[in-house]
Amino acid sequence: MSLLRSRISRKPAPAPVETGGQGAVPRHIAIIMDGNGRWAKARRLPRLAGHRSGAEAVRRTLRAAGKLGIECVTLYAFSSENWKRPEEEIADLTGLMKQFLRSELDEIHEAGIRLKIIGDHHAFEPEAAAMVDAAVARTADNRASTLVVALNYGSQDELARAMRRLAEQVKAGTLAPSEITPEAIAAQLDTADLPPLDLLIRTSGEVRLSNFLLWQAAYAELYFTDTLWPDFDEAALVAAIESYARRERRYGGR
Ligand code: FPP
Repeated sequence: MSLLRSRISRKPAPAPVETGGQGAVPRHIAIIMDGNGRWAKARRLPRLAGHRSGAEAVRRTLRAAGKLGIECVTLYAFSSENWKRPEEEIADLTGLMKQFLRSELDEIHEAGIRLKIIGDHHAFEPEAAAMVDAAVARTADNRASTLVVALNYGSQDELARAMRRLAEQVKAGTLAPSEITPEAIAAQLDTADLPPLDLLIRTSGEVRLSNFLLWQAAYAELYFTDTLWPDFDEAALVAAIESYARRERRYGGR
Protein backbone atom coordinates (compact mmCIF):
# COMPACT_ATOMS: atom_id res chain seq x y z
CA MET A 1 0.00 0.00 0.00
CA SER A 2 1.37 3.44 -0.85
CA LEU A 3 1.97 6.02 1.85
CA LEU A 4 -0.92 8.08 0.50
CA ARG A 5 -3.37 5.21 0.53
CA SER A 6 -2.34 4.26 4.04
CA ARG A 7 -3.02 7.80 5.24
CA ILE A 8 -6.52 7.58 3.81
CA SER A 9 -7.16 4.18 5.40
CA ARG A 10 -5.66 5.44 8.69
CA LYS A 11 -3.44 2.35 8.95
CA PRO A 12 0.12 2.84 10.23
CA ALA A 13 2.31 4.24 7.45
CA PRO A 14 4.83 1.84 5.92
CA ALA A 15 8.07 3.02 4.29
CA PRO A 16 7.59 6.08 2.04
CA VAL A 17 6.18 5.44 -1.43
CA GLU A 18 8.84 4.47 -4.00
CA THR A 19 8.06 6.79 -6.85
CA GLY A 20 11.34 7.76 -8.46
CA GLY A 21 10.10 11.35 -8.16
CA GLN A 22 9.93 13.67 -5.20
CA GLY A 23 7.55 11.34 -3.34
CA ALA A 24 6.01 14.05 -1.18
CA VAL A 25 2.49 15.13 -0.42
CA PRO A 26 2.07 18.63 -1.90
CA ARG A 27 1.74 21.50 0.56
CA HIS A 28 -0.61 23.50 -1.64
CA ILE A 29 -3.05 22.16 -4.23
CA ALA A 30 -5.51 24.16 -6.31
CA ILE A 31 -8.51 22.79 -8.18
CA ILE A 32 -10.48 24.06 -11.16
CA MET A 33 -13.75 22.26 -10.43
CA ASP A 34 -15.21 21.78 -13.90
CA GLY A 35 -17.94 19.63 -15.39
CA ASN A 36 -20.97 20.16 -13.14
CA GLY A 37 -23.13 21.15 -16.12
CA ARG A 38 -22.08 18.15 -18.24
CA TRP A 39 -22.62 15.80 -15.30
CA ALA A 40 -26.20 17.07 -14.97
CA LYS A 41 -26.82 17.02 -18.72
CA ALA A 42 -25.72 13.39 -18.99
CA ARG A 43 -28.41 12.57 -16.43
CA ARG A 44 -31.05 14.87 -17.98
CA LEU A 45 -31.04 16.88 -14.75
CA PRO A 46 -31.07 20.67 -14.32
CA ARG A 47 -27.64 22.34 -13.99
CA LEU A 48 -28.44 23.04 -10.33
CA ALA A 49 -28.34 19.28 -9.66
CA GLY A 50 -24.81 19.24 -11.09
CA HIS A 51 -23.73 22.14 -8.89
CA ARG A 52 -25.32 20.44 -5.85
CA SER A 53 -23.36 17.27 -6.53
CA GLY A 54 -20.33 19.52 -7.07
CA ALA A 55 -20.78 20.87 -3.55
CA GLU A 56 -20.80 17.25 -2.28
CA ALA A 57 -17.53 16.68 -4.13
CA VAL A 58 -16.11 19.74 -2.36
CA ARG A 59 -17.00 18.20 1.02
CA ARG A 60 -15.45 14.84 0.10
CA THR A 61 -12.30 16.42 -1.31
CA LEU A 62 -11.72 18.65 1.72
CA ARG A 63 -12.07 15.70 4.07
CA ALA A 64 -9.64 13.63 1.97
CA ALA A 65 -7.17 16.53 1.77
CA GLY A 66 -7.34 16.83 5.56
CA LYS A 67 -6.53 13.13 6.00
CA LEU A 68 -3.61 13.41 3.59
CA GLY A 69 -2.17 16.33 5.55
CA ILE A 70 -2.33 18.86 2.72
CA GLU A 71 -1.63 22.28 4.18
CA CYS A 72 -3.55 24.44 1.74
CA VAL A 73 -6.37 23.77 -0.73
CA THR A 74 -7.48 26.49 -3.16
CA LEU A 75 -10.81 26.03 -4.97
CA TYR A 76 -11.97 28.00 -8.02
CA ALA A 77 -15.61 28.41 -7.02
CA PHE A 78 -16.62 31.48 -9.07
CA SER A 79 -14.54 33.28 -11.66
CA SER A 80 -14.83 36.96 -12.57
CA GLU A 81 -16.09 35.67 -15.94
CA ASN A 82 -18.89 33.59 -14.34
CA TRP A 83 -21.05 36.74 -14.10
CA LYS A 84 -21.81 36.09 -17.80
CA ARG A 85 -23.94 33.10 -16.74
CA PRO A 86 -27.75 33.44 -16.49
CA GLU A 87 -28.95 35.26 -13.38
CA GLU A 88 -30.76 32.15 -12.18
CA GLU A 89 -27.58 30.05 -12.24
CA ILE A 90 -25.64 32.78 -10.40
CA ALA A 91 -28.37 32.82 -7.74
CA ASP A 92 -28.20 29.01 -7.51
CA LEU A 93 -24.42 29.07 -7.05
CA THR A 94 -24.69 31.82 -4.44
CA GLY A 95 -27.37 29.82 -2.62
CA LEU A 96 -25.15 26.73 -2.63
CA MET A 97 -22.25 28.69 -1.17
CA LYS A 98 -24.48 29.94 1.65
CA GLN A 99 -25.80 26.44 2.27
CA PHE A 100 -22.24 25.11 2.29
CA LEU A 101 -21.23 27.65 4.94
CA ARG A 102 -24.30 26.85 7.04
CA SER A 103 -23.68 23.11 6.94
CA GLU A 104 -19.86 22.92 6.93
CA LEU A 105 -18.49 25.90 8.83
CA ASP A 106 -18.64 24.27 12.27
CA GLU A 107 -16.72 21.23 11.01
CA ILE A 108 -14.21 23.44 9.17
CA HIS A 109 -13.63 25.53 12.29
CA GLU A 110 -13.36 22.51 14.59
CA ALA A 111 -10.77 20.98 12.26
CA GLY A 112 -8.65 24.12 12.73
CA ILE A 113 -9.04 25.22 9.11
CA ARG A 114 -8.66 28.89 8.25
CA LEU A 115 -10.96 30.13 5.47
CA LYS A 116 -9.44 32.66 3.13
CA ILE A 117 -11.01 34.31 0.08
CA ILE A 118 -9.16 35.41 -3.02
CA GLY A 119 -10.92 37.74 -5.45
CA ASP A 120 -13.69 40.06 -4.29
CA HIS A 121 -16.70 38.36 -2.74
CA HIS A 122 -18.31 41.72 -1.95
CA ALA A 123 -19.75 41.66 -5.47
CA PHE A 124 -22.17 38.93 -4.30
CA GLU A 125 -25.53 39.79 -2.75
CA PRO A 126 -25.08 41.37 0.71
CA GLU A 127 -26.27 38.40 2.79
CA ALA A 128 -23.86 36.01 1.05
CA ALA A 129 -20.97 38.48 1.31
CA ALA A 130 -21.69 39.00 5.02
CA MET A 131 -21.78 35.24 5.65
CA VAL A 132 -18.40 34.88 3.95
CA ASP A 133 -16.98 37.80 5.98
CA ALA A 134 -18.25 36.19 9.21
CA ALA A 135 -16.77 32.80 8.28
CA VAL A 136 -13.40 34.35 7.46
CA ALA A 137 -13.41 36.27 10.77
CA ARG A 138 -14.44 33.20 12.80
CA THR A 139 -11.66 31.01 11.40
CA ALA A 140 -8.95 33.69 11.15
CA ASP A 141 -6.81 32.31 13.99
CA ASN A 142 -6.97 28.66 12.88
CA ARG A 143 -3.61 27.19 11.97
CA ALA A 144 -4.05 23.50 11.07
CA SER A 145 -4.59 24.21 7.37
CA THR A 146 -6.05 26.77 4.98
CA LEU A 147 -9.04 26.53 2.67
CA VAL A 148 -8.83 29.21 0.01
CA VAL A 149 -11.96 29.87 -2.02
CA ALA A 150 -11.63 31.94 -5.18
CA LEU A 151 -14.78 34.03 -5.48
CA ASN A 152 -15.28 36.55 -8.27
CA TYR A 153 -11.59 35.87 -8.93
CA GLY A 154 -9.58 36.41 -12.09
CA SER A 155 -5.82 36.09 -12.18
CA GLN A 156 -5.29 38.93 -14.66
CA ASP A 157 -7.38 41.22 -12.44
CA GLU A 158 -5.36 40.11 -9.39
CA LEU A 159 -2.12 40.93 -11.24
CA ALA A 160 -3.48 44.30 -12.42
CA ARG A 161 -4.45 45.20 -8.83
CA ALA A 162 -0.97 44.21 -7.64
CA MET A 163 0.70 46.30 -10.38
CA ARG A 164 -1.47 49.31 -9.55
CA ARG A 165 -0.42 49.12 -5.89
CA LEU A 166 3.24 48.93 -6.86
CA ALA A 167 2.77 51.85 -9.31
CA GLU A 168 1.21 53.92 -6.49
CA GLN A 169 4.27 53.21 -4.32
CA VAL A 170 6.60 54.25 -7.14
CA LYS A 171 4.53 57.42 -7.66
CA ALA A 172 4.71 58.18 -3.92
CA GLY A 173 8.48 57.74 -4.03
CA THR A 174 8.50 54.82 -1.57
CA LEU A 175 9.54 52.19 -4.13
CA ALA A 176 12.21 52.36 -6.85
CA PRO A 177 11.32 50.75 -10.21
CA SER A 178 14.39 48.51 -9.74
CA GLU A 179 12.72 47.13 -6.60
CA ILE A 180 9.85 45.64 -8.64
CA THR A 181 11.09 42.07 -8.43
CA PRO A 182 9.16 38.80 -8.72
CA GLU A 183 9.16 38.65 -4.91
CA ALA A 184 7.75 42.20 -4.67
CA ILE A 185 4.98 41.29 -7.13
CA ALA A 186 4.18 38.01 -5.33
CA ALA A 187 3.90 39.93 -2.06
CA GLN A 188 1.09 42.03 -3.56
CA LEU A 189 -1.00 39.09 -4.77
CA ASP A 190 -4.08 37.78 -2.94
CA THR A 191 -2.06 34.62 -2.26
CA ALA A 192 0.90 36.41 -0.61
CA ASP A 193 0.59 34.54 2.70
CA LEU A 194 0.12 31.05 1.20
CA PRO A 195 2.69 28.32 0.53
CA PRO A 196 3.87 28.09 -3.10
CA LEU A 197 1.40 26.27 -5.35
CA ASP A 198 2.59 22.68 -5.91
CA LEU A 199 -0.19 21.02 -7.85
CA LEU A 200 -3.00 22.40 -9.98
CA ILE A 201 -5.82 20.00 -10.86
CA ARG A 202 -8.51 20.56 -13.50
CA THR A 203 -11.39 18.16 -13.94
CA SER A 204 -13.66 17.38 -16.91
CA GLY A 205 -11.06 17.01 -19.66
CA GLU A 206 -10.58 20.74 -20.34
CA VAL A 207 -6.90 21.57 -20.68
CA ARG A 208 -6.52 25.27 -19.88
CA LEU A 209 -6.01 27.53 -16.87
CA SER A 210 -8.98 29.86 -17.48
CA ASN A 211 -7.46 32.88 -15.74
CA PHE A 212 -6.73 30.95 -12.51
CA LEU A 213 -3.50 31.47 -10.53
CA LEU A 214 -1.46 32.29 -13.66
CA TRP A 215 1.48 33.72 -11.72
CA GLN A 216 1.33 31.13 -8.95
CA ALA A 217 1.26 28.22 -11.42
CA ALA A 218 4.66 29.15 -12.89
CA TYR A 219 6.30 26.05 -11.37
CA ALA A 220 3.25 24.10 -10.26
CA GLU A 221 2.68 20.60 -11.59
CA LEU A 222 -0.47 20.45 -13.73
CA TYR A 223 -2.86 17.51 -13.61
CA PHE A 224 -5.81 17.14 -15.95
CA THR A 225 -8.41 14.43 -15.53
CA ASP A 226 -11.51 13.51 -17.54
CA THR A 227 -13.43 12.93 -14.30
CA LEU A 228 -16.30 15.41 -14.02
CA TRP A 229 -16.16 17.44 -10.81
CA PRO A 230 -19.29 15.86 -9.19
CA ASP A 231 -17.59 12.44 -9.54
CA PHE A 232 -14.32 13.60 -7.96
CA ASP A 233 -13.59 11.80 -4.70
CA GLU A 234 -10.86 10.62 -2.36
CA ALA A 235 -9.57 8.04 -4.89
CA ALA A 236 -9.39 10.71 -7.60
CA LEU A 237 -7.44 13.01 -5.28
CA VAL A 238 -5.04 10.23 -4.33
CA ALA A 239 -4.51 9.46 -8.04
CA ALA A 240 -3.66 13.13 -8.71
CA ILE A 241 -1.22 13.21 -5.80
CA GLU A 242 0.38 9.93 -6.79
CA SER A 243 0.97 11.40 -10.26
CA TYR A 244 2.49 14.50 -8.61
CA ALA A 245 4.69 12.37 -6.35
CA ARG A 246 6.13 10.51 -9.36
CA ARG A 247 7.27 13.72 -11.05
CA GLU A 248 10.64 15.30 -10.70
CA ARG A 249 10.43 19.05 -10.23
CA ARG A 250 13.45 20.84 -11.60
CA TYR A 251 12.40 24.52 -11.50
CA GLY A 252 14.32 25.15 -14.71
CA GLY A 253 17.45 23.34 -13.49
CA ARG A 254 18.69 19.95 -14.72
C1 FPP B 1 -17.96 24.32 -13.26
O1 FPP B 1 -18.95 23.54 -13.83
C2 FPP B 1 -18.19 24.68 -11.89
C3 FPP B 1 -18.52 25.94 -11.43
C4 FPP B 1 -18.79 27.08 -12.31
C5 FPP B 1 -18.65 26.30 -10.04
C6 FPP B 1 -18.13 25.38 -9.01
C7 FPP B 1 -19.17 25.31 -7.96
C8 FPP B 1 -19.41 24.28 -7.16
C9 FPP B 1 -18.56 23.07 -7.13
C10 FPP B 1 -20.59 24.28 -6.26
C11 FPP B 1 -20.49 24.91 -4.93
C12 FPP B 1 -19.19 25.46 -4.49
C13 FPP B 1 -18.80 25.55 -3.19
C14 FPP B 1 -17.47 26.12 -2.81
C15 FPP B 1 -19.66 25.06 -2.10
P1 FPP B 1 -19.66 24.04 -15.15
O2 FPP B 1 -21.01 24.55 -14.77
O3 FPP B 1 -18.80 25.04 -15.87
O4 FPP B 1 -19.73 22.70 -15.93
P2 FPP B 1 -19.79 22.48 -17.52
O5 FPP B 1 -18.50 23.03 -18.08
O6 FPP B 1 -19.90 21.00 -17.64
O7 FPP B 1 -21.00 23.22 -18.01
